[in-house]
Amino acid sequence: MSIDKIVSLCKRRGFIFQSSEIYGGFRAVYDYGPLGITLKNNISQLWWRNMTQLHENIVGIDSGILMHPKIWEASGHVGAFNDPLVDCKECKSRFRSDELIDNDTDKINWLEVQCPKCGNTGKLTEPRQFNLMFKTNIGAVEDESNIAFLRPETAQGIYVNYLLVQNAMRLKIPFGIAQIGKAFRNEIVARNFIFRTREFEQMEMQYFVKPGNDDDALNAWKKERMIFYEELGINSSKLRFHQHGDSELAHYAKEAWDIEFEFPFGWSEIEGIHNRTDYDLAKHEEFSGKKMEIFDQEKNERFLPYIIETSAGLNRILLAVLSHSYWEDKENNRIVMKLHPKIAPITTVVCPLLKKDGLPEIGHKVVEILKPHFNTIYDQQGSIGKRYYRQDEAGTPFCITIDHQTSDDNSVTLRHRDTQKQDRIPIEQLIKTINDNMENFNE
Ligand code: GAP
Repeated sequence: MSIDKIVSLCKRRGFIFQSSEIYGGFRAVYDYGPLGITLKNNISQLWWRNMTQLHENIVGIDSGILMHPKIWEASGHVGAFNDPLVDCKECKSRFRSDELIDNDTDKINWLEVQCPKCGNTGKLTEPRQFNLMFKTNIGAVEDESNIAFLRPETAQGIYVNYLLVQNAMRLKIPFGIAQIGKAFRNEIVARNFIFRTREFEQMEMQYFVKPGNDDDALNAWKKERMIFYEELGINSSKLRFHQHGDSELAHYAKEAWDIEFEFPFGWSEIEGIHNRTDYDLAKHEEFSGKKMEIFDQEKNERFLPYIIETSAGLNRILLAVLSHSYWEDKENNRIVMKLHPKIAPITTVVCPLLKKDGLPEIGHKVVEILKPHFNTIYDQQGSIGKRYYRQDEAGTPFCITIDHQTSDDNSVTLRHRDTQKQDRIPIEQLIKTINDNMENFNE
């Protein structure tokens, strides 16, 4: 299945649009439509609940996108957050060198490599480093003294606040701090729809442990994070771990694992789980001159905790969920987004069979009953078959139809998206039946 089908459905149904479309588009930035933002919010709310509500020792914060520029020197992003790039002198295209060549890129004679865009050989430059951070200036004057960066990860906002959070919430090690927010990277090769973009959202949790307990914590988080994706309705056969080898390990990491999903364009990372040791805290201690150690009252000792990080890309997870759900039901000539009902942007649609005989009025009443419990809409446009298929594409798991029998006995039909099976049930049992179906949903 090609990613183009998902791109087209996303536009048609109001999930995702190219940014600034009326101006010809703005590369590698996307806008989320009504269904897209709701689906994205549903995923991030589930993550937030899993992290903060279901773990007594994990709390949330929301730090600024703009922070003191020294933070990015301390973290290594000013010095080392680079991609090696090669340019084609002929067609002026730019590529990440490691994406052109599988082998060790240091040993390559770039003059012998063909440009993948224009096909010329002998035109590629040697790789050059390119920093991925977006720079801006704070205040009225633009000079070197007031440079600031848009954060390229949310993690540093947690590290610089961790002692304030720990004191305020009286947290004892081990504990975690979670954050969801925008991050920005001046990606040179942005591709695959919302997979790699210049503006994206991360859902990061930094888990502070005693050195020595870090390996166990990393293993526990690896297990737990996989379960999250299954909760989103993603089949485990579409997920796998990839461990970073020496050449891939980030400068801060002792051990790192990616959770990969099988996208239409191949297996690719959706989340990273890293043992960052005390690298970041030690660096902030060095650059800020402030002590970053934690005080363990019970043991009467001070130490720099190790950090296990789980860092997920919300937009990539959204793309994984969309790709996973896309189903061409050839037998019935329809396209269905088999979204898990827990995260589907619309849970129920209420459809009066006809626009007369008091059916629309009953329909509106049913919407009022369901609205406090589920994201519910009312639809009376077009034939009932067309309405069902429109909702199948939007991923709506339950369609409720009001017909003449409803006026007689207060019963409606409940149509199930994936099987198209219809049950006749009393209106007063709708909430319970839908809840039961959501709980017992199986792909
Ligand atoms: N704090 C660690 C960190 O940022 P990362 O592996 O660079 O680690 C973590 O990023 C996650 O953020 C990735 O697994 C991916 O899901 C997401 N991500 C990174 N760059 C992205 C981009 N340009 N567009 C969309 N998502 C991105």
